[in-house]
Amino acid sequence: MRIIAIDGPAGSGKSTVGRHLAARLGLRYLDTGAMYRSVAFAALRLGIDPDDARRIADLVPGLEIIVGDVVLVDGVDATLEIRGPEVTRAVSAVAANPEVRTEMVRRQKEWAQAHGGGVIEGRDIGTVVFPDAELKVYLTASETERARRRSQEATDLHYETVAADIARRDLVDSTRAVSPLATADDAIVIDTTGRTVDEIVDELSSKL
Ligand code: DC
Repeated sequence: MRIIAIDGPAGSGKSTVGRHLAARLGLRYLDTGAMYRSVAFAALRLGIDPDDARRIADLVPGLEIIVGDVVLVDGVDATLEIRGPEVTRAVSAVAANPEVRTEMVRRQKEWAQAHGGGVIEGRDIGTVVFPDAELKVYLTASETERARRRSQEATDLHYETVAADIARRDLVDSTRAVSPLATADDAIVIDTTGRTVDEIVDELSSKL
């Protein structure tokens, strides 16, 4: 099984680099953030408070989540809504829930088995989910650049709102008790600020 793990904070370029690298290597690509976002989406739809750890944990085992170009949560197309401001606000609390993480990690391993590996991106992929990955990558970018990228994607939000949200999520994601965002000791660290996708994909391919 060939696993490439990509971790890093919001807006660091994980998805863009991950998709291109997967295409170059002929591997499948998995965005694990979309899985945590799907849980937050389901909770909001059902009126469950994202901070209600017990109810969120009870929701997860029976939840069908299919992550691809289209994201389906219990058969509902959540592709656009999981990127919206409500889910983005709710997702850190959901992702800090240990029972949610255990179940998502189980599903990520199952996905990799089913697809013969893949390029998998998230926050804990190289540190916790696939510590034996063939290649571990940790992407970063300056705070300004990360907020600029995300505010270009969300044209209805002001740069300041996006920047504040990213800073809040960085803090929650990197200080939570279970699987905080961290750099694996053996990860290749790349600052993507001002660099092209092709350059980075070339650099990573040369390490394989
Ligand atoms: O990459 P993203 O912004 O779509 O991730 C959404 C949230 O999910 C983010 O705040 C952190 C969390 N996450 C996580 O805790 N572990 C992962 N493997 C992926 C995402």
